[in-house]
Amino acid sequence: MSQSDTGNVGSPGSLAEDEQRSSAPAEQVEERPPAPEIDISKPHVARIYDYFLGGKNNYAADREMAEQVLKVFPEAPIGARINRRFLIETVRWLVQEAGIRQFLDIGSGLPTQQNVHEVAQAIDKDARVVYIDNDPLVRVHADVLLATNPNTIVLEGDLRDPQALLNRPELREHLDFSQPIALLLVAVLHFIEDTQQAYDIVKTLCDALPSGSYLAIVHTLKEETMDQASAIYRRASLSGHPRTEEEIRGFFAGLTPVGRGLVRMADWTPPDRPNGLTEGNNVVSLGNSDVLRKLPGMCGIARIDR
Ligand SMILES: C[S@@+](CC[C@H](N)C(=O)[O-])C[C@H]1O[C@@H](n2cnc3c(N)ncnc32)[C@H](O)[C@@H]1O
Repeated sequence: MSQSDTGNVGSPGSLAEDEQRSSAPAEQVEERPPAPEIDISKPHVARIYDYFLGGKNNYAADREMAEQVLKVFPEAPIGARINRRFLIETVRWLVQEAGIRQFLDIGSGLPTQQNVHEVAQAIDKDARVVYIDNDPLVRVHADVLLATNPNTIVLEGDLRDPQALLNRPELREHLDFSQPIALLLVAVLHFIEDTQQAYDIVKTLCDALPSGSYLAIVHTLKEETMDQASAIYRRASLSGHPRTEEEIRGFFAGLTPVGRGLVRMADWTPPDRPNGLTEGNNVVSLGNSDVLRKLPGMCGIARIDR
């Protein structure tokens, strides 16, 4: 999938650029015409996130809501970028160091820069990826991907019914469930309101994966700014449920944490680089910034051992 196919975001910025962007996140970008069946009158989580990343897959209702969120959480664009950094570095580590060749990315979002399949297939062109998201806009991208990349598929589906996802024939045909799979639930579990339901979803998915598989998560932390941002999401009938550190740790119950396990976003490093990230590969460059430290989110990788 080329950048022009997918309407990608502008080049990733440095932290200094990000800090400047935090009050004005996305440059004015040309709006893409929506597919006829897609309702753009209501905001959607995926497109609000796309706006924070400076992408083109967002519409007036999404931008309006994103601007409301920015009033209480001006660091949202930096949060989105550090989130992408975790995702990109995690996929790279999983392929290069953990030998993973299959990815199930649920709540994958809309195409942006350095998508999971691009990062994985740059290391091994045979790596297989399934993207699932509940934004119907993914269907548009599915058509492009199906035509150009036989090892990657995109499905519209809902994390709230994990068994239905697991039963999807396209998923079963694309991934070999006898071989390890990396399950990516990056910045999506906080859209499941009920904590027990969220735990059950993760358990159902992990139980379906063979030993030696991995789970990677990012989750927003219950702090004042996140509570305010979530209230805005909920007022627009979108969900948003930050959790406490203890609740987030519950997602790794019964799994083997890798590297530093679950840590705050600013503290995360790939398991093979405990002393920090090297500059150059990252979506955000790392400076001594208070902004990064304040980001209310946790992330980590765990292995499924049986
Ligand atoms: C904040 S974005 C994260 C995107 C991507 N994982 C990343 O980290 O860059 C959250 C994504 O989760 C999707 N999402 C939210 N609730 C979902 C659900 N119940 N089922 C599937 N996808 C969902 C949204 O549409 C959105 O694309």
